[in-house]
Amino acid sequence: MSKKIAVLPGDGIGPEIMAQALKVLRAMPELDFVMEEAPIGGAGFDAAGDPLPEKTLKLAREADAVLLGAVGGPQYDKLPRDKRPERGLLRIRKELNLFANLRPALLYPELAEASTLKPEVVSGLDIMIVRELTGDVYFGQPRGIEVRNGERVGFNTMIYAESEVRRVARVAFDIAMKRGKRLCSVEKANVLECSELWKEVVIEVAKDYPEVGLSHMYVDNAAMQLVRAPKQFDVMVTGNIFGDILSDAASMLSGSIGMLPSASLDQNNKGMYEPIHGSAPDIAGKDMANPLATILSVAMMLRYTFSDEANASRIEAAVRKVLAQGLRTADIYTAGTKKISCSAMGDAVVAAL
Ligand code: NAD
Ligand code: IPM
Ligand code: MN
Repeated sequence: MSKKIAVLPGDGIGPEIMAQALKVLRAMPELDFVMEEAPIGGAGFDAAGDPLPEKTLKLAREADAVLLGAVGGPQYDKLPRDKRPERGLLRIRKELNLFANLRPALLYPELAEASTLKPEVVSGLDIMIVRELTGDVYFGQPRGIEVRNGERVGFNTMIYAESEVRRVARVAFDIAMKRGKRLCSVEKANVLECSELWKEVVIEVAKDYPEVGLSHMYVDNAAMQLVRAPKQFDVMVTGNIFGDILSDAASMLSGSIGMLPSASLDQNNKGMYEPIHGSAPDIAGKDMANPLATILSVAMMLRYTFSDEANASRIEAAVRKVLAQGLRTADIYTAGTKKISCSAMGDAVVAAL
C-alpha cells in the first residue's frame, strides 16, 4: 500500500522550498508515496480562519508522515494571538505529540568557506541537537499579559514534568548510542528550578546507558562553546526554548540556516519534517531561498519514519554532489562557486539523484 505524506507548504518561502522537496520525491517513484497538500500558518488563516484548520490536522493525523515548509509573516503579526501562524505550528506539534525534535548540524566539507567561522573550527562538524518540542515555556500555564498594580506585565511559565524530561532524554541517549556515545545535557540549573529537575532526571536516565558519557553544561556556556569549539559536541539534549536558540546558532556552523533540516518525532517515530528556519519574508517570492534544508528533511523522513536508510543516503549524496559541483544558492555562495536559484537547486539535486 502506498504511504501518505501530508504536505504543508505554509507561508513565505515555504511554498518555494516545498516545491523543490516534492521534485525530489517525485524523482523517486519507487517510493510509492501519495502526497496530499493542506494549508497551515498564515495560509491556513487565509483559507479557513485558523492557522491549523481542522482538515489540515485531520490529514496530518491520517498521514504516515508530515512535510512542512515554514509559517509566519509580518502581515499576520497583529492577528489575535491564537490566530497567528506560529500558534498553528505549535498546535500541530502538540496535537501529534512530537516531543523529540532532532536537529543535525552537519558541515558538508564543500561549505567550510560558507560558514562565518574559520574552516578549521567547523570542518568535520557533526552534532545532533535533540530539542524537547512540546513542553517548557512554550506551553506552560499560566501565561499572558495583564495589568498588575497599574502596569502591564507579561508572563510565561517554564515547566517540565519528569516524564517529559525522561522520554526526550531516552531519545537522546538512544541516538548517542548509535553515534559517538557522548551526550551533553544543556540547562540553566544554576538559576532555574525547572532546569534543576531536568538535570536530575537526565542523570537518572543515564543509569540505563552506562556506555554513554554524559556531561552537563549551562546554556550560556553552551552558546559560547558552540562558536568557540563546536566539535567537542556529539549529541546535545535540551529543552524547548534553549534548543530553539542553540539550533539557530549551530546552523551557522553548517554554512547557513538554509542547510539545517529537522525531524519531530512522537513515541512511534511518526514524524513531521521541516527545515529549522522560518518563512524568510525578506526573500520570499524571489526564487532565491536555499531549499536544501527542506530536501534534507525529506531524507530524514525516509530514515526515521520509513526506515529507508538507502534512499535517505541517496538524497544526502545527491546534495553533496551538487555542492561538489560548485552550485550554491545566495546564502551559501562564496567566490569561485556558481550562484543559482531555489528552483535551479531543486533541479540540480534531482539531476544528481
Ligand atoms: P527566518 O528563519 O525566517 O529568517 C532569518 C534569516 O535567515 C532571514 O534573513 C532569512 O532570509 C534567512 N533564511 C531563512 N531561511 C533561509 C533559506 N532557506 N535560504 C536562505 N536564507 C534563509 O527567521 P525570522 O526572520 O526570525 O522569522 C520570519 C518568520 O518566520 C516569522 O514569522 C517567524 O515566526 C517565522 N518562523 C517560522 C519557523 C517555522 O515555520 N518553523 C521557524 C522560524 C521562524
Ligand atoms: C522553529 C521556530 C518555531 C519555534 C516558531 C515559529 C514557533 O522558531 O521551529 O524553530 O520557536 O519552535
Ligand atoms: Mn526557531
